[in-house]
Amino acid sequence: MEKKLHYIKKELLQREVPLVLLVLLLVAVLLLNFLLYIYLNNFSVINGQPDVDSSFCPFGYFRLGSMKNCSPWLSCEAINTEVRKLKCVGEGAVKKVFLSEWKENKVSLSQLTTSELKEDFLHGLKMLKSLQSKYVVRLLGYCEKQFTILTEYHPLGSLKSLNKTLELPKYKGWNTWHRRFMLAIDYVSIIHYLHNSPLGTLVMCDSNDLEKVLSQYLLTSDFHILVNDLDALPLVNKNIGSLVKCGHRELQGEFVAPEQLWPYGEGVPFEDDLMLSYDEKTDIWKIPDVSNFFLGHVEGSDVVRFHLFDIHAACKQKNPADRPSAQMVMDTYRKVLTLLLREAALPSTREML
Ligand SMILES: Nc1ncnc2c1ncn2[C@@H]1O[C@H](COP(=O)(O)OP(=O)(O)O)[C@@H](O)[C@H]1O
Ligand SMILES: [Mg+2]
Repeated sequence: MEKKLHYIKKELLQREVPLVLLVLLLVAVLLLNFLLYIYLNNFSVINGQPDVDSSFCPFGYFRLGSMKNCSPWLSCEAINTEVRKLKCVGEGAVKKVFLSEWKENKVSLSQLTTSELKEDFLHGLKMLKSLQSKYVVRLLGYCEKQFTILTEYHPLGSLKSLNKTLELPKYKGWNTWHRRFMLAIDYVSIIHYLHNSPLGTLVMCDSNDLEKVLSQYLLTSDFHILVNDLDALPLVNKNIGSLVKCGHRELQGEFVAPEQLWPYGEGVPFEDDLMLSYDEKTDIWKIPDVSNFFLGHVEGSDVVRFHLFDIHAACKQKNPADRPSAQMVMDTYRKVLTLLLREAALPSTREML
């Protein structure tokens, strides 16, 4: 009788062991899915946060590094007495930019290059003041009469040096399709912010070629993008039929949108007055080219490109009205990222099963 009981127990145990294993595996898979859900959720929270970060100060104030309290924007006097210029780190048509020091903080001092471009400089400053948010470089002070602007310094510089930065040993680990795609999402989020800004629909006009676009944005040390140069940001107001023109000269090449090109052929000499104005959809036309630069050529970037094929084709529609809004592009990018991260996590789940 006892022998029989022992036999039955053994039988049961043999049957239970694989059952227990199966349950454990199922629990592991569920846990993995849960962790993935938390991760993706966190990601969308990061991207869905309000435009004004809680670390931001009220209008006219800033906080930097380890500063506890918000400090008022520096005035002409404070800039002249407390800021020390160290070295030139960049120069565009409008501004010469110097790495500088203020109370042991590294800051960036921009100075007007030529008085002919005063208007652009002052427009940029006005925009910088009005658009302070998590998308825009932090303003620390300004002096209108001396044409100087003080902003937070970002040692990784503009996006022009992104590929060089990603080759440095310190940043090699960031050179993945995931990080690169996140930069593209940052970029489209900034365009979305400008098109839906507190001032209305603004067009990023300083963008006639890829290099130019990249030079207007800064890469932060935690690998995010900020828009820095807001000198050419005209306002579109479709309600009153007010459209824009990016400059008064003839534009050429495939980087700019077709509606920005001279429409009357080589036989007719260019005349600014005959040029038709356009809207913010010129920025949408440029998104695929800028995103392609971000994605680069690393393992997995072609898979991202494949998933973005349709939305990018839509951005390149000849008729501006047929192009998607920045919101639509941003939503598609985020969906593709979620899908790809889920797929990247799947092989390990399969292996476990
Ligand atoms: N806050 C900053 N931190 C680091 N580099 C900066 C900063 N601001 C500007 N730069 C550098 O200076 C360059 C020119 O600045 P920008 O404001 O675009 O001038 P411009 O209006 O003349 O085009 C940028 O492309 C970048 O390389
Ligand atoms: Mg610039």
